Amino acid sequence: MNIKAPRGTQDIVPGQVEKWQFIEEKIRDLCRMYQYKEIRTPIFEQTELFLRSVGDTTDIVQKEMYTFADRGGRSITLRPEGTAPTVRSFIENKMYANINQPVKLYYLEPMFRYERPQAGRYRQFVQFGVEALGSADPAIDAEVISLAMSLYKDLGLKKLKVVINSLGDKESRQAYRNALIDHFKPQIHEFCSDCQNRLEKNPLRILDCKKDRDHQLMKSAPAIIDYLNEESRKYFEKVQQHLQALNIPIEVDPNLVRGLDYYTHTAFEIMSDAEGFGANSTLCGGGRYNGLVEEIGGPEIPGIGFALSIERLLAALEAEMIELPLNEGIDCFFVSLGDEAKDYTVRLVHTLRQAGYSAERDYLDRKVKAQFKAADRLQAKYVAILGEDELKRNIINVKNMATGDQKELALDSFVEQFKRL
Ligand code: HAM
Repeated sequence: MNIKAPRGTQDIVPGQVEKWQFIEEKIRDLCRMYQYKEIRTPIFEQTELFLRSVGDTTDIVQKEMYTFADRGGRSITLRPEGTAPTVRSFIENKMYANINQPVKLYYLEPMFRYERPQAGRYRQFVQFGVEALGSADPAIDAEVISLAMSLYKDLGLKKLKVVINSLGDKESRQAYRNALIDHFKPQIHEFCSDCQNRLEKNPLRILDCKKDRDHQLMKSAPAIIDYLNEESRKYFEKVQQHLQALNIPIEVDPNLVRGLDYYTHTAFEIMSDAEGFGANSTLCGGGRYNGLVEEIGGPEIPGIGFALSIERLLAALEAEMIELPLNEGIDCFFVSLGDEAKDYTVRLVHTLRQAGYSAERDYLDRKVKAQFKAADRLQAKYVAILGEDELKRNIINVKNMATGDQKELALDSFVEQFKRL
C-alpha cells in the first residue's frame, strides 16, 4: 500500500519549515508592535456557526466545508476560516466587557476547505488573521490594512496592489440588493442553478459566481458605490484618507464583493502583481463586519479584520525571487578522534547546549574528514576538535570556520572560553 498525504495537503519538512518559522516570528513581532493578542480556538466548530456567519449561499458553505456528524450525532465542521470562531469566542468569553477596548486579536492556524487543489490553493492551509472588535473608527480599518502591508513589505515583497471597496451599511446594502434583483431577474434563467437560487436569497453572491462571470449582465451590473448612503460614503472616504496618510496606494474596485456574507463598509484584498504568480493572486482578504457579532448571538459590536495564508505568501516570495535571511548554522560541531575523545564529547556537547548554544557531534562513527563534512553541511560556526593528543594535554582545538583561525581552549573551562569567542 502506498499511502500519501491527502490531496490538497502538504508536509512541511526541514529545509522548508525554517521559512515558516521565520515568517511566524515576524508575524508575532508585528502583532506585538500593533498590539494584537493571540487567540487559539478549536479546529472544529458546530456547523451552524459558519452557516450563520459565512452565509449559506456562499461557495465556502455550499461546496467547500469539511462537515461530518460526530459520534454523538452533532454536525461538526473543520473551520474554513477564522473570523467566525474568533467572534464566537469573543462572545463566549465576554471580551466585550474587557477594560481594554477595542479587543484586538490575531490567529495563526490551519483552515480547511474542500477546494480543487492547484498552485496556491490547498485543502489545508495556514491563515494569519487579525480581528479588531469594538471600534467603528475608520482609523482602525486603515490600521488593519497597514498591518498586512507591513508584513509583506518587511519580508521584501514589492509587487503589491491594494484593492478596496465599500459594501456600505445595512440600509445601503438593502438598496443595492433590490437593484441587483431588478437587474438580474429578467434574464436569470440564463444563469446557473446556484445563481437562480441566490437571486432572492442573496443576489450579491451572483457577482461572485465563477461559472457565469462572462455573462453580459455581469459587466453591466449596478455597482454598490452608487447605492451608498451619505454615512457609508463618508466612512469610505475617511478610510481612504487614512490610507493615503499612511502612504498606502489603493485602487478602488466597485466590483469587489468578497466571498463571505458578513461584510459591511470596507472590503479589501491585497494582490500580487508579480510576473509568474498564478491565478490565485489574492494574497490577503478582509473587511469590516459590523453586524456579525449580533448575528452570532452577541451584543451590537462592530469589527474588522483580514486573513492571509502563509502558503500564498511563500508563493509570492518565490515569484519575486526573494530569499529569506535564514540563519540556519549551528554554533559548534565536535569532531573527535579515538574512543576516549568520542566519549568525552558526549559531555562537551551537553554542557555547551546547557549554556544556550546549538551544538552537535558525530553519531555515526565517521572518519575525521567525514565529520568535517558533516560540520560543513550544518554550517557550523565553530568546529571543536578533540583527539588523543589534545586529551593528554587537557585542551581542545576550536576552529572558526569563517576566518580559519584556530585556538586552543583548556578543557576544564571550555564553555567559559567558548563564550568569549
Ligand atoms: P478569504 O478571502 O476567504 O477570507 O481568505 C483569506 C485569505 O486566505 C486569501 O486571501 C488567501 O490568502 C487565503 N486562502 C483562502 N483559501 C485558500 C486556500 N484554499 N489555499 C491557500 N490559501 C487560501 C477569510 O477567510 C476571512 N475570514 C478574512 C477576514 C478576516 N475578514 C475579516 N476578518
